[in-house]
Amino acid sequence: MLLYGSQKGQAQSIAEGIAEEAEQHGLVADLSCLNETTKYNLEQENDPVVFIVSTTGDGEPPDNALQFVKRIKRKTLSTDHYKHLCYALLALGDTNYANFCNCGKTIERRLQDLGAKQFYATGYADDAHRHLTFRIWHLTCIILFTLQAPF
Ligand SMILES: Cc1cc2nc3c(=O)[nH]c(=O)nc-3n(C[C@H](O)[C@H](O)[C@H](O)COP(=O)(O)O)c2cc1C
Repeated sequence: MLLYGSQKGQAQSIAEGIAEEAEQHGLVADLSCLNETTKYNLEQENDPVVFIVSTTGDGEPPDNALQFVKRIKRKTLSTDHYKHLCYALLALGDTNYANFCNCGKTIERRLQDLGAKQFYATGYADDAHRHLTFRIWHLTCIILFTLQAPF
């Protein structure tokens, strides 16, 4: 499962690239935008989930990730709400902004608070070095995805 939140299209195109590559490796990659809530259900997701999210405004989530971020920030959610969830996250941002990758960091923090487990360390891709960071993260993620390790 691949989920993206993107303001200007960069995170979306990276997510589409990973989906394409995953399919070339014989994997089924379900790709959705975070606001397409009828297409995914994290409450019942047992397959690994990869999040690709950018940050906009002054450290805000992209418009199409706003509701998702609001939902996972609800204080009524228990600390084991996502304990079944296995994820990796790539945050896109720009170090010229004060709140570098803030949306990715917020999602990351909440997933951890709610008991989700990472299967690969979060990547923070700065616009200036994005291609290198992304390439390394992407390749490793695909390999781990393929091996389904270490579930
Ligand atoms: C208006 C605007 C505001 C931004 N604000 C931030 C920010 O607060 N923190 C950050 O790390 N990056 C910020 N960025 C950089 C974007 O996150 C970065 O360019 C990213 O690659 C865009 O991905 P997207 O096309 O999927 O939205 C901002 C970019 C724009 C155009």
